[in-house]
Amino acid sequence: MTRSLSRSNAHFRKAVTRLPLGVSSNFRYWGEDKTIYVSSAKGARLRDIDGNEYIDYRMAYGPCILGYADRRVDDAARAGIEIGGVFALSTEREYAVAERISRMVPAAEMVRFSNSGTEAVMAALRLARAVTGRDSYVVVEGGYHGVFDAALWHTPIEDWRPAAGEPHLVPFSAGVPGMLRALLHAVPMNDADRLESVFKAYGHEIGAFLIEPIMGNCCSISATREFLHAARALCDRYGILMIIDEVKTGFRVARGGVQELFGVKSDLCTFAKAMANGYPISVVAGRKDIMRRFGDGVVHGGTFTCHSVALAAAEKTLEILDETPALRTIAEYGTRLRTGMSQILSQRGIKHSFSGHPSMSGLFFNEHPPRNYRDWAGSDYSFYEAIAPELHDLGVLCEPDSREPWFVCEAHDERCLVETLQRFETAVDRVLNEVQSPGPAHCAI
Ligand SMILES: Cc1ncc(COP(=O)(O)O)c(C=O)c1O
Repeated sequence: MTRSLSRSNAHFRKAVTRLPLGVSSNFRYWGEDKTIYVSSAKGARLRDIDGNEYIDYRMAYGPCILGYADRRVDDAARAGIEIGGVFALSTEREYAVAERISRMVPAAEMVRFSNSGTEAVMAALRLARAVTGRDSYVVVEGGYHGVFDAALWHTPIEDWRPAAGEPHLVPFSAGVPGMLRALLHAVPMNDADRLESVFKAYGHEIGAFLIEPIMGNCCSISATREFLHAARALCDRYGILMIIDEVKTGFRVARGGVQELFGVKSDLCTFAKAMANGYPISVVAGRKDIMRRFGDGVVHGGTFTCHSVALAAAEKTLEILDETPALRTIAEYGTRLRTGMSQILSQRGIKHSFSGHPSMSGLFFNEHPPRNYRDWAGSDYSFYEAIAPELHDLGVLCEPDSREPWFVCEAHDERCLVETLQRFETAVDRVLNEVQSPGPAHCAI
């Protein structure tokens, strides 16, 4: 390793005495000697406490759509402080932001605010169960919907081989009650026949089909337009509510999110990350007749809901995303990033493809992008795992796990692009050299 993390390492040893794993989210722990502590971030660049600077493509797992410390949003947030915080009462601004969201996303006929993506999805699922009177729900293999018990299930595809039969769903965390498993069905992405057979067999028990059409925690594996429309029709046929989780895609892949991109309308949808450029606020939205059940037997609330700082940040962020070409700039950058990476990989004969939207690209080391999570298991991701630490050393921050896409923000500019591609080329060559003169780590390409 060329970069020094000595201060981060020393801080880790201190932090771990008070904070489990030395961090405030399990996903921020990268190992005893690799966990990074941030000193500051601005635009698309982040600095750690050792003074290392990175061009960041994690962007807080998606929220910072305009870049860190965006002056326009932060000024609005500062003005939001003056309003007073939270009141156990509402403010006029909630309506103004809800209005904007409804204009941007036609499916969001009515809106309720929460604080995190988890809370929004939790509320959507509760509402769907209340409206349909059915407790079961269907998810897509590989999907992630937050840190609540009903969502903390996963398909351990890394260990799965097709010959072993259907993969099993297992709790993603100790402490998730095993009895919840009975309520859950999982289907592979882009398999309408499988979805229909589950609906046929269990439709009378199923209240919701929960889908993130571009899986932002799973290599950006994407639904096809055909599949999403087929799923929409199946939900209608079986009286099952379609919840589209746009916590990552919302206000990112298009002004109207993934629903605009695919021309599909959910019954309920959820938003969080990009809507306030990193300030904590989220939304559950949907059909009026469904949403009106909040206040008619279905509980929704939260002490910190619509804090004046987060709400002011959301108002400004959404105004920018709606009224300026920010999203086009982001998509163009993402496309150029893909093209540049592709040239570097192709020149070296490395098979690869990209999945998802250019603003949140999954990089996949196979000729064709995965259609579902099972395809991902069939690919060789050891090359990605080898280049990621090299990129970190060279000052490009991507997730070490290839399932997390590369997030682009408006502040990724020409200089970031040139530097990223130079460093990417170096990282690829370093790994190739290692493969040719094998050291301890190998990877097949
Ligand atoms: C699609 C999706 N839904 C829900 C969540 C949970 O959001 P949060 O981490 O804000 O609770 C996430 C988080 O990454 C997500 O990607």
